[in-house]
Amino acid sequence: MPKVFVTREIPDAGIKLLKEAGHEVEVSDFDGVLPREQLLSKVKGADAVLSLLTDKVNAEFFDAVGPQLKVVANYAVGYDNIDVPEAKKRNIIATNTPGVLTESVAEMAIALIFAVARRIAEADRFMRGGNYHGWAPLMLLGNDIAGKKLGLVGLGRIGAVVAERMKKGFDMEVLYNDVSRNAELEEKLGIKYVDLNELLEQADFISIHVPLLPVTKHLIGSAQLKRMKKTAYLINTSRGPVVDEAALVEALKNGIIRGAGLDVFEAEPAMAPGLAELDNVVVAPHIASATEETRSAMSELAAKNIIAVLAGQEPITPIKL
Ligand code: DGY
Repeated sequence: MPKVFVTREIPDAGIKLLKEAGHEVEVSDFDGVLPREQLLSKVKGADAVLSLLTDKVNAEFFDAVGPQLKVVANYAVGYDNIDVPEAKKRNIIATNTPGVLTESVAEMAIALIFAVARRIAEADRFMRGGNYHGWAPLMLLGNDIAGKKLGLVGLGRIGAVVAERMKKGFDMEVLYNDVSRNAELEEKLGIKYVDLNELLEQADFISIHVPLLPVTKHLIGSAQLKRMKKTAYLINTSRGPVVDEAALVEALKNGIIRGAGLDVFEAEPAMAPGLAELDNVVVAPHIASATEETRSAMSELAAKNIIAVLAGQEPITPIKL
């Protein structure tokens, strides 16, 4: 019976599918990210591993699992935690979960735009702190969103949904930058491709939707933040290291930009020193895909990828090099 190791408890939907397919499934019972040594010992002998973005899947990991390993199914669309070339070298298939989380992540990016521009988290703290003593004309002024310019750094699945929702729903003028142009979407949605500097200089809201790659690490640093409007907001739901977080703290402190909405951080679960003390930032603990529906769908997709590979079939969503 093929053995599947799941590195942390996930919604039951996928576990059920794996069991129904006749696999022996072990789910880590450790309440948290498995410490490295424990992970390396637990995965030993597995034919498939269902991994999380918090697991580093590299040569050391593959050595620990053993040569029978056929597939690592990442429970995330991002796969910067996996050494994909190393997996390929060893004929191990790696898969991710694109598609099923697109809407949820796009919704979170949009939620952060609203939260920071309308100062919702700050207002909540204000109320709970007993500071509301009566309506006031200048209290907690934020900024409007409708009709403003939205700059998308990355127009993949998630960026495209943010573009469509904000263009159609809030009449935003949408600019985007990516490694390649999407003429079809430009035409369909009436959005405009610009180079990154132009996007930084023009947009009122900038939302990041690129994967973490060597070329995207610190794509937004001090120089890029200085190009942004002083009234602009930065939103990041992709991966923390795409933004130089220390530079962002300085920019937020010194009025270089107006605010930020962050779901991801450079050294999770930590935040850069000084970030938590700032009122003009809304922070969330990497929950963009965290809805019941989406996390369940991710669980099913990861399981289906494993089932397919162990049955000698093509996975549904392989990570391609
Ligand atoms: C992903 O899938 O990459 C998200 O960051 C977590 O769901």
